[in-house]
Formats: sequence, structure tokens, C-alpha cells
Amino acid sequence: MTDITISHREMRLAETVSRQLSNALVRRKLTPAFSDFYVTHLAGMTPLIAVLDTAKLGDHSSYISPDLMHQLSTDLGGMPVYLSNHSGIRYVVLLSPLPKLPRKVDLPLDAPRGKLAIGVRFTGQPVLLDWETFLHLAVLGNTGSGKSIFLQSLVSQAIRDDMKVLLSDIDQATFGMLEGHPNLAAPIATSPQAALGLIEYALAECDRRAELFKSLSAHPQKLSEYNALAVKANMDPLPRMLVVLDEASSVLTALGGAKGAMGQALATLGWRGRKFGIHFIFAAQEFTKDIVGPVRDQVGLTLCFRVRNGQMAERMGCKGAERIPENRPGLAISDRHGPIQTYFVDSSALSQAQNLLPVISDDEQPLFARSLRETDGRLSIPILVSWGSRERVARHLLEAWELRGWVMRDPQRDNARYITPKLAQILSNRQTGQTASNPA
Ligand SMILES: Nc1ncnc2c1ncn2[C@@H]1O[C@H](COP(=O)(O)OP(=O)(O)O)[C@@H](O)[C@H]1O
Ligand SMILES: [Mg+2]
Repeated sequence: MTDITISHREMRLAETVSRQLSNALVRRKLTPAFSDFYVTHLAGMTPLIAVLDTAKLGDHSSYISPDLMHQLSTDLGGMPVYLSNHSGIRYVVLLSPLPKLPRKVDLPLDAPRGKLAIGVRFTGQPVLLDWETFLHLAVLGNTGSGKSIFLQSLVSQAIRDDMKVLLSDIDQATFGMLEGHPNLAAPIATSPQAALGLIEYALAECDRRAELFKSLSAHPQKLSEYNALAVKANMDPLPRMLVVLDEASSVLTALGGAKGAMGQALATLGWRGRKFGIHFIFAAQEFTKDIVGPVRDQVGLTLCFRVRNGQMAERMGCKGAERIPENRPGLAISDRHGPIQTYFVDSSALSQAQNLLPVISDDEQPLFARSLRETDGRLSIPILVSWGSRERVARHLLEAWELRGWVMRDPQRDNARYITPKLAQILSNRQTGQTASNPA
């Protein structure tokens, strides 16, 4: 049972807002087909939920555009309007003030594999991104607003997730501690020319992957499809690749702007990379007029830390980022999720290789250890079941490990799956790290 006590003031406000929402849609020649309005309590806030009857709408896209959310918010005198379209279309209007976000939240060490954890929303919910949906990311913010720490948190997750990374760090203030890391596909770029070299490297990787995709008769359309087919054909899965350009605007400007060599290469990578699991993050203090449009077209998500230029923030869908106080580094506005306190990582912790090893859960660790001890690295559903796993869990684990390149069928032997040298290496690195940090 939830205790719903809503004040008279909030009820009156809810009625006014409901009317204003309908009027705002009508003014834009949209149908105010609301089937329900209700007020609830959520994480210390009082949102009004306006539910649209989607059967009565024409093309849904005009009801869910970020532009419409801004317009509705403007019509409501600046009250934030959020979209919830997991099932049906709902507008969420906060009748109570925004609760305060915490000033610092550490990146959790157990962020789910294959996702990108970026921070917490005002509801306290973590924001988790799925690589295949958001594709590329734009990050904006003045000096000191939290860009470097944010990029470090993303790259550390990518490395722990076994991704390959390409890093550009012109000011040499962000990625120095990762110099020489084995997950770097090329040395860290510290000049615009070298940054262009990274994009060219990523494009060549697209070519290589295109050939591999072609070699499979089922015509995979994205990396997850390719990998599912590849492991069945006993080929290695391909890791996702992340290209991060810090101070990207200066790189772009140095190389002729949006129409120059870098602009063109990035535009190509933008659309080609999608299919092959090659993603980029474009971080800058400001976007010039000529690149706002092209960047916005490429990225699935924009995050603005404190910025000087409110117009630019608005054009990127992050209205209000110019009002983030100077003493709130790490606080950002995202075009899809509203305000987010992004995760903090300790830069010096990233220079210890131990902290960037892939996460092997407490459930998995004993299984691998036992397999190395008792079955010579052999792992199968019957083996896992005989060790106490449920069959469904065993099958799921084996498939997930296979997709990560941790186990592979060995046709030379009995076609069961075996621990790969890659996993053996990870396990031994974890062990050496452990003994080094607490000598027995
Ligand atoms: N997510 C965060 N949470 C709390 N403090 C942060 C966060 N990100 C950055 N800071 C603080 O702000 C300072 C500047 O951050 P930094 O990432 O270097 O900014 P930028 O790269 O935008 O110049 C950091 O040294 C740190 O003290
Ligand atoms: Mg920085």
C-alpha cells in the first residue's frame, strides 16, 4: 500500500497543468487524447502522470520528440516535463520541487556487463545505457565541470568489459594513466593529426569487420547478431570498440571544421560504426555553430555539464545546463534523462591495472577455479549441473561466456566448451594482483 496524501495545492496545480497540457497539444495541431491523469508519489516527489491513448493518435513520433518536451515545459512556465514511453506514452510533470541530487556518487564496481552506467537520476535510479541503442555520445562542459572524470568512468567500464579503446587527449589531462594499457588499440593521441589517425584506424577496423560479417551467410546487421552467429561457427566474437575524443572541438577546428578531413572521417564512422559495434564519444567545452547539427544527428545521447552557452545547450536538448552551479562538478543534464549526477572515479585508482580487470562474479570465480583444477578447463551443462547449477542457469552462463570469448568449443577434443587462453590470462592476472596487494 502506498500512502498517497496529496495536498489541496498540489491537486489544484494538477488540474491546471492537465488543462495546460491539453491546450499545448491542441496549439501544435496534436490530439490531446489523454485517457487518464493521476498524481502519485515517487522518491519524495509528486509527479502528475498524463497518459495518452495511443490508439487515438496518428504518427506517434511528434508526441515523443525532445522538441515537444521543451515546448510543453515552456508552456507550463518552465516546469520540467519528462517522457515515459516504455509502454504507451505518458508525460510526467513534477508538481513538487526537484529533490537534490547527491554531490558525489562513486562508480559502482558491479555495474552490469555490456552496459554503460553513467550516473544517478533525481529518483535515485541509476542510468544504464545499452551500447546498441545509444551508439555514440556527445559530452559538453566548461573546464572544471567534470568531463575528464566522466570520460574516465566510461573508459574504465569499457576496459572492464573487455572492449578495445582508442583515446585522444590533446591536453594530456584525462587519460595519461592508461598509457600502454593492453586494451588500447593504438597509442593515446596527443595531436589533432594523431587523433585523425585514430578515426582512420577505426574506419579500417570497419572494413575488416565488414569482411568478417560478409563471411557469414546469415547477413548479420549488428554486432550482437554477428557474435551470436560467430560463436556457433566456432569463430572468435568481436569486441566492441570505443573511440573517445576529449577536447574534440579543438581537434576538429585544427583540421578544417565539419567539412575538413576529421569532420568527414567522423561522419563516416558515425554511420558505419553502428553496424560493427564501434562507438565514439565526442567531448568538448563548446560546439561551434557548424558542428552542433552534424554532432546532434550522429549521437544517441547528449550530456551537458555546466556550460557557458545556454543556446548551444538548448540546441543539444540540454536546456538549463548553463544554470548548473560552478560548485557542482559531475552534475549534468541529459537530453533523454534530465538531470544526472554522473559517477565519480578516482583517477589514481585507474592507474592500477588490477582495478580495470574484467569483473568475474563471486558465482563464476569458483566455477572457473574448479574447472581448471578438475576438468582441465572443460565446461559443459552437465558439468555445471553436477556442481549444483540449475540447468537453465548453466546454459545461460555458458552462452554469456562464449560471447565474451571466455570459453570456446574445441573440435579437436570432444566439442565441449573449454576455457580460452584469454580467460586463463584474466584469471591469472587477478590472482597475481591479489597476492601483490596482500602478501600472505
Ligand atoms: N562526478 C563527479 N563527482 C564529484 N566531483 C567531481 C566529479 N567530476 C569531477 N569532479 C571534481 O571536479 C574536478 C574537475 O573535474 P574534471 O573532470 O577534471 O573537469 P573537466 O575535465 O571538465 O575540466 C575534479 O578534480 C573533481 O574534484
Ligand atoms: Mg578535462
